[in-house]
Amino acid sequence: MKRLLLILACLTSVNAQDITTLEKIGPVVRFENSEKTVTLHCQDNSQVQLTVLAPDLVRVRAAFTKPIPTKDHSWAVAKDDWTTPRWNLTETPDSITITTDELEVVVHRSPLLIDFRDARTHQLLNADERPMSYDANGRLAGIQFDSKAGMFVAASKKFGFDEHFYGLGEKAARLDKRRMSFVNWNSDTPGYNENKDPIYQTIPFYLGLQRGIAYGIFFDNSYRSYFDFGRASSERAWFGAEGGEMNYYFFYGPSIKKILGRYADLTGRMPLPPLWALGNQQSRWSYFPDTMVEEVVGEYRKRDLPLDVIYLDIDYMNGYRVFTFDKERFPDPRGLTEKLRRQGVKVVTIVDPGIKHQKERGYHAFDQGLEKNFFQRRRNGDLFVPRVWPGDSVFVDFTLPDARRWWGDLHRFYIDNGIAGIWNDMNEPSDFVDQTGKNQLDVVSYDEGEKTTHAKNRNTFALLMARGTYEGLERLQPDRRPYVITRAAYAGIQRYSTMWTGDTNSTWEALSLNIPMFTSLGLSGEPFVGSDVGGFIGRGNGELLVRSYQISFLAPFCRNHKQHDGYDQEPWRFGKYYEDIIRKYLKLRYALLPFLYTTLEEAHRTGVPLFRPLVLNYQDDPNTHNIDDQFMIGEDLLVAPIMKPDVTRRLVYLPAGVWYDYWSNKRYAGGTTITVDAPLDVVPMFVRGGAIVPMGPTLNYVGEKPTDPVTFNIYPDDAGSAAGRLYEDDGLSPGYKRGVFRRTAVAVRRSGRGFLVSLGTPEGTYNPGPRTFNFVLKSLGSAAKVLNIKDSGHAQEIPLR
Ligand code: GLC
Repeated sequence: MKRLLLILACLTSVNAQDITTLEKIGPVVRFENSEKTVTLHCQDNSQVQLTVLAPDLVRVRAAFTKPIPTKDHSWAVAKDDWTTPRWNLTETPDSITITTDELEVVVHRSPLLIDFRDARTHQLLNADERPMSYDANGRLAGIQFDSKAGMFVAASKKFGFDEHFYGLGEKAARLDKRRMSFVNWNSDTPGYNENKDPIYQTIPFYLGLQRGIAYGIFFDNSYRSYFDFGRASSERAWFGAEGGEMNYYFFYGPSIKKILGRYADLTGRMPLPPLWALGNQQSRWSYFPDTMVEEVVGEYRKRDLPLDVIYLDIDYMNGYRVFTFDKERFPDPRGLTEKLRRQGVKVVTIVDPGIKHQKERGYHAFDQGLEKNFFQRRRNGDLFVPRVWPGDSVFVDFTLPDARRWWGDLHRFYIDNGIAGIWNDMNEPSDFVDQTGKNQLDVVSYDEGEKTTHAKNRNTFALLMARGTYEGLERLQPDRRPYVITRAAYAGIQRYSTMWTGDTNSTWEALSLNIPMFTSLGLSGEPFVGSDVGGFIGRGNGELLVRSYQISFLAPFCRNHKQHDGYDQEPWRFGKYYEDIIRKYLKLRYALLPFLYTTLEEAHRTGVPLFRPLVLNYQDDPNTHNIDDQFMIGEDLLVAPIMKPDVTRRLVYLPAGVWYDYWSNKRYAGGTTITVDAPLDVVPMFVRGGAIVPMGPTLNYVGEKPTDPVTFNIYPDDAGSAAGRLYEDDGLSPGYKRGVFRRTAVAVRRSGRGFLVSLGTPEGTYNPGPRTFNFVLKSLGSAAKVLNIKDSGHAQEIPLR
C-alpha cells in the first residue's frame, strides 16, 4: 500500500510539471480599461488584468474561472505608488494592444496569448507559447500540500533558439540557466553540490537575453514554484506555482542594468550596510568561551592580518536559547565586546528563529511570546513545535506586525551587550522533524487576516524575520545602519538583509559555484553576497583556502566560517606559505575599499550589483553570455580565478577594449582570449582601459586611520582618456540618505605631451577632512607618473606631465 502511494505521489508530482495537461484560460469576450489597468473578461469567467506601471514595466494578473480578487498584497513589493506613464490602447477584431513609450503588449483574443514587443521596432521580446493555464480540478497538481491552498497556475513562454536565462536568486547552478529547471521551496540543504535544488532561497525573478536584448519576469508568488527554461521541451520556458495567483511583472530593458534598476524600484533597494561589513570577517561554529574569541582576534592582530568582525555561533547561548548568553562561557559579554571594540573588532551573534519550548516558566522569549499569542499554531489550534537546536521549539508568526515589533525589540539585549550585527540562520524554516516542510503544511499564519498555511508562507518566513530584525535594530539605534545577514530569503530581502550561501563543502567543486552563485544573486536584486571562505563542511587545505580567498577578497561578504567538527581553517592554519598569500589578498581588499565602497553605493542606488558576470557589462558580446569562471567588480576590474587544484595557468576572455594586467600593468587589446600564468600567489586581474580606480591605505580594520592619501590609479583607454568616481560617507550612520556623502568625479585626458586631470565639484555635504590625492598613471610601465595634491574640495584641473 505504502509503495502504491509512493508511486501515485511520484506520478502526481510529475503531472505538476507537465503543464500541457493543464486547463487553458478561455478567450477574451470583452474588456474594459481604467487609468492604468486593462481588465480582460474571458469566456470561462476568468479575468486577466494588465497594469501599466512604467513605460518598461507591465504587471499581469490572472484569476482562473473567477474574478480577480480585490485583495492585493505582496511581502516582496516595496512600491505601489507608480505614476502612470503615457500609454494608449488600440483594438482590432483579433487583438487588443497596449502601447507605452517603450513596450507594446499585444493581447490576442482567441486563444488568449500575450506578446511583448519593443514599441519602436515592434520586435518580439517574449511571447506566450500557450494561454495561461491552471489545474481544472481546482486542486493542487502536486501532492505535497493541503488542497485548500489553491490550484496549480502556470504561464508558458516561447523558448528562444538562442535565448539565455539568468537570475532566479540562489541556485546551485551555473550562470546561464538555459536548458535547466528549478523549484523554489526554501530548504535547509547542508553540503549541497551543483544541481541540488531547491536550496535556501526563493527569488522568482529571471532575465531573458536574446540577440543582446533583455527582458525580465518577476513571478511574485510565494507558493512552491517551478521554473523551466527549455529543459522539458524546446518549445517552452514556463513558470508556475502550486497555489496563489498567476501574478507576474514584465520588465523591458533592453539593457540588463535598466531592468535591475526597475526591479529595485519594485522590490526595494539594498540600504548601505555599515562600511565595516566590507571588512574581513571570521567565524566558527563555535568560538567559545570568551577567551577563545579573544585568542582568535589576538592571533589576527599578532599576525598582521586585517579583521573587522568576529561571529558568535549557537554555542554562545544558554541551551541554545536566543536572547541569552551562557553565563559560564560568556560571563561578561559587554566587557568582551568592549575589549574587542578597542581592537577594532565588531561582534555579530547568530539568532535562529527557533525559540526553546519549555514547560517551566522563566525564559522570557518563550513566556512573552506565548502570552501574547505570537507563536505559530497548527490549524487545530495546537502550538506548532518543530525541533531545532534547542530541541522542541516554537516559531514566531512574523506575518503579525505586533510580533515582528516584539521580536525586533528583543534585540535590545544584544545592543546592550555591544553586539554590532545579527546573523539569521535556520530560517527556511529548518525543522529536524522533517526538512521537506511536510510537517508544516497545516501551520497557519495570520497573513493579513487571511490565515493561510505554510504552503504560502514558508518561502516568505525568512523575509519577514529579517524585516522584524532590521526594523528593530533601526528603531533601537536610529543613528546606526543595521547589519543583518540571512540564509533563507524571498524577493525583497535586500531591503533588510545581506546574505551568504549556506553550508557549502570544502571542495573544489563547491568553490567553482562561488562565481555563478554570487553573480546570479546580483542579477536577482541581492548585491551583498558571499560564501563561507574555504567552505563550511569537511577538511580543506591551504591551496583550496588560498584560491577561495582569491575570489572572496572581492566579494561584498568576505567571511571564513567552518563547521564545528570540520578542520580549523583560519588563515594561518595551514602554515606560513599560505598565510602570507592570504595576507596579501586581505590587505589588497582593504586598500581597494574606496573602490569597493564606491561600487557598493552604486548597487544601493541603481540596483546594479558590484560582483558582476561579464554579461552584465557586455551583453552585446555573445562570448560573455555563459562565462562564469570570471567575474567583474563594477565596470572596471576583471578577475579570472583558479578553481582547480594544481593549476597555475588559465584562459581569460577579455572583452573588446584595452585591458591592463593589474600586477604588471601590461597592456592587452581585448576582444580575445589570452593565456595567463596564475601561480598560487596570483589571481589574474585586469583593469579596463578608461578606468580610474581609487585606493586607500591598507588597514587592520575599517576606521583605523583616515583614508589618506587617496590614490587614483589611472588606466587610459586608446584615446588616452579615463574616468572614475569616489564615494565616501561616515560609513556608519544613515546620514547618506539625507545627502551627507561626498561623490568626487575624476577624469583624465591627453593634453599636449602629457595628461590633464580634472576633479569635479564634489557632490554632497560630507566632509572627509584634509587629505592628499595621488594620481598615478599606470600606462607607462616603470615610468609611472605620479602627482600629489591636497584635496581642496573644489573643481580643478591639474596637468600631469
Ligand atoms: C547552520 C549554518 C551554519 C552554522 C550552523 C550552526 O548549519 O548554516 O553556518 O554554523 O548552523 O549554527
